[in-house]
Amino acid sequence: MRAVVIREPGGPEVLELRELPSPSPPHGHVRIRTRYVGVNRADLLQRLGAYPAPAGVPRDIPGLEYVGVVDALGEGTRRFQIGERVFGLVAGGAYAEQLVVHEDEVARVPASLSDEDAAAVPEAFVTAYDALVVRGGLQPGERVLVSAAGSGVGTAAVQIARALGCMVIGTSRTASKLERARALGLDVAIEAQDGVFAKAVLAATGGAGVDVVLELVGGRYVAEDVEACASLGRVVLVGLTGGRGCELDLGTVLRKRLTLTGTVLRSRPLHEKIAAARLLERNLVPWLSAGRVRACIDRVFPLAEAAAAHAHVAADATFGKVLLSTGAT
Ligand SMILES: NC(=O)c1ccc[n+]([C@@H]2O[C@H](COP(=O)([O-])OP(=O)(O)OC[C@H]3O[C@@H](n4cnc5c(N)ncnc54)[C@H](OP(=O)(O)O)[C@@H]3O)[C@@H](O)[C@H]2O)c1
Repeated sequence: MRAVVIREPGGPEVLELRELPSPSPPHGHVRIRTRYVGVNRADLLQRLGAYPAPAGVPRDIPGLEYVGVVDALGEGTRRFQIGERVFGLVAGGAYAEQLVVHEDEVARVPASLSDEDAAAVPEAFVTAYDALVVRGGLQPGERVLVSAAGSGVGTAAVQIARALGCMVIGTSRTASKLERARALGLDVAIEAQDGVFAKAVLAATGGAGVDVVLELVGGRYVAEDVEACASLGRVVLVGLTGGRGCELDLGTVLRKRLTLTGTVLRSRPLHEKIAAARLLERNLVPWLSAGRVRACIDRVFPLAEAAAAHAHVAADATFGKVLLSTGAT
């Protein structure tokens, strides 16, 4: 089978398509013939040598999500038949034509969802739902702020918050992305080229502020989030492309009784990854099937052009997800 391998830490050019042995599924695992796999920021960091894969995961093959069909069953498996269409999250190794996954981490793709659309779902939608609802305790009717609203996770978060009947405010440095996000349910769009948005959020909420922030940029955005929050607000840190540090007014955190929390999907233990797969099946698949939320795809590259896909994501010009196609049917 072919896989994209990181030859050495470096730029997109270190990604190489190689022929590797076909993996056999051990006890409790299934092998998946992938059709599309998602490209994520974490893959770019891994390629640079800045985000090593957790133990037990291929160190040199990036990729955190896939759609495909089950093509081999390990001993003791019981959930799937050969040929079933499935999708899900892995901690690495998805830039490959075959992937071995614990069967409980795998979810069935609903018939209404194309392969392409399904591949754009797991990382963006599970991250957004888990951060907003599980970590952030988002309740129907609350006010939500989503940074980088045109990102993969951002486009999912806008729709999830909207599906819960929330008021959704989003920021981006790019006006055209905000326009497109409006079509997904964004109520208030704030162009924040300079990373300043708290005053605009307060103005849009009659001075009340927001209940939950999905923070996808990090850095100095977090200080703005704290200013933009209502009393008892929850800031959920998910991405740090804008930096790992910031200066915070801790007095505001105390006075508003805020919760500042963070989350990461990749390094979770198996039982939490299984829980994430059930969340995908139980909470998101029904919404996807009913058309209440939908996948947003920016562009699809062939697996052999993974380097071009990485360069495209790094340019910050994407709206929604970038995918790689393995060409398998
Ligand atoms: N914790 C987790 O488990 C988890 C899971 C998935 C993703 N993430 C993180 O969540 C973030 C979003 O992921 P994604 O895949 O949805 O990203 P994406 O689709 O690649 O979009 C990221 C967008 O963020 C904006 N951006 C990038 N750098 C910025 C900066 N320095 N200041 C302000 N805006 C900036 C850009 O849009 P504009 O400038 O046009 O607004 C860019 O297009 C990433 O940091 C990613 O690593 C974390």
